[in-house]
Amino acid sequence: MASVEVDVSSMNVGDSITIMWRGKPVFIRRRTDAEVEAAKETPVADLPDPLARNPNIGSDEPATDANRAAVDREPWLVMIGICTHLGCVPLGQQGAFGGWFCPCHGSTYDTAGRIRSGPAPANLDIPPYTFASDTTIVVG
Ligand code: FES
Repeated sequence: MASVEVDVSSMNVGDSITIMWRGKPVFIRRRTDAEVEAAKETPVADLPDPLARNPNIGSDEPATDANRAAVDREPWLVMIGICTHLGCVPLGQQGAFGGWFCPCHGSTYDTAGRIRSGPAPANLDIPPYTFASDTTIVVG
């Protein structure tokens, strides 16, 4: 399985990058405190998809912000940038929930990449990844 090493040393709070892994876009975002707080304040019971969908912590975990974010690095989000409806690439920091907006059919995702409205059935998927150091993420 091919993995991709990403240097995130130049990313400041509020920055996002998109890398490619196995032919798919992967969003890496260093969230602001306000974005993390907004996600933490949302009860899992209010979410259309209550599952974290994070293979790094095991399946069937609830979609809390901590379970969506990098382990012990909650500002960091690493997600596959493919809408779970029909596969378009959502646009970042747009939409009613301040996360991602899919222009194809209007799905909106929140600041933890969780589906909040529109036809998409599930939260944005999270790839396997680890932080090899404070400034290096290995995806895959
Ligand atoms: Fe994103 Fe349809 S592909 S809403």
